[in-house]
Amino acid sequence: MTVSDITVSDLIKVYKRGKLEVIALRGLDATFPAGKVTWVRGPSGCGKTTLLNLVGGLDRPTAGSILVDDANLAHLADKELVAYRRDKVGFVFQFFNLVPVLTAAENVELPMRVAGVVGATRDARVQELLAAVGVEKRARQRPDELSGGEQQRVAIAVALANDPTIVLADEPTGELDSENATLVLDLLRTVSRDRGKTVLLVSHDPHASQIADVTVDMADGRIVSS
Ligand SMILES: Nc1ncnc2c1ncn2[C@@H]1O[C@H](COP(=O)(O)OP(=O)(O)OP(=O)(O)O)[C@@H](O)[C@H]1O
Ligand SMILES: [Mg+2]
Repeated sequence: MTVSDITVSDLIKVYKRGKLEVIALRGLDATFPAGKVTWVRGPSGCGKTTLLNLVGGLDRPTAGSILVDDANLAHLADKELVAYRRDKVGFVFQFFNLVPVLTAAENVELPMRVAGVVGATRDARVQELLAAVGVEKRARQRPDELSGGEQQRVAIAVALANDPTIVLADEPTGELDSENATLVLDLLRTVSRDRGKTVLLVSHDPHASQIADVTVDMADGRIVSS
């Protein structure tokens, strides 16, 4: 599998609310190195979530390019963007984003079902991933029966289910106490070091400095230092 750096050039994102325009990204240039953890930080409203959503193919830029493995996300057809999200990207959000009626194991299995992975392979991968994040004993619990830290670890297993090349984490420790926050951040480092994932981490947690290979500072829709 080819894993390339992610290169964004002159990225512009304008949100339109009726007649009002909000310029969230104003010509952002950055390279996020393959297989490394890049910590993206900056004040509220500077465009961090917007950037992650664009790199993850959840939204499209107004202008500019996002190069991933020789593809420019800005030019992909809708179908190709769906396939990109499914096959290449894992998302970890602040509020865990697990399906409440499914068990931990079923949550991890779900993206594999969507991708058409066969049953026996799915079962083995679910076991491996739950063990890798340290919640194998919680496989049959539903999210509301798990602690916040356990839920976020399951969410990381979900993000890894289809073996993406990119993991995008937006304030993954925002709802956790410092002990669980450190655990989750260390797990993201492992995801990069041991599995070779390209991790983009948006976080206000100072512990992020200890797991980051690269730190990028944003302000007002641009990178101001890295
Ligand atoms: N869907 C949207 N429609 C209109 N404006 C939006 C939308 N999403 C974000 N914005 C605006 O774009 C700007 C950047 O928002 P974004 O969510 O990317 O910031 P952020 O850096 O993630 O902030 P925070 O640290 O608070 O999460 C803000 O001014 C925000 O109000
Ligand atoms: Mg945000």
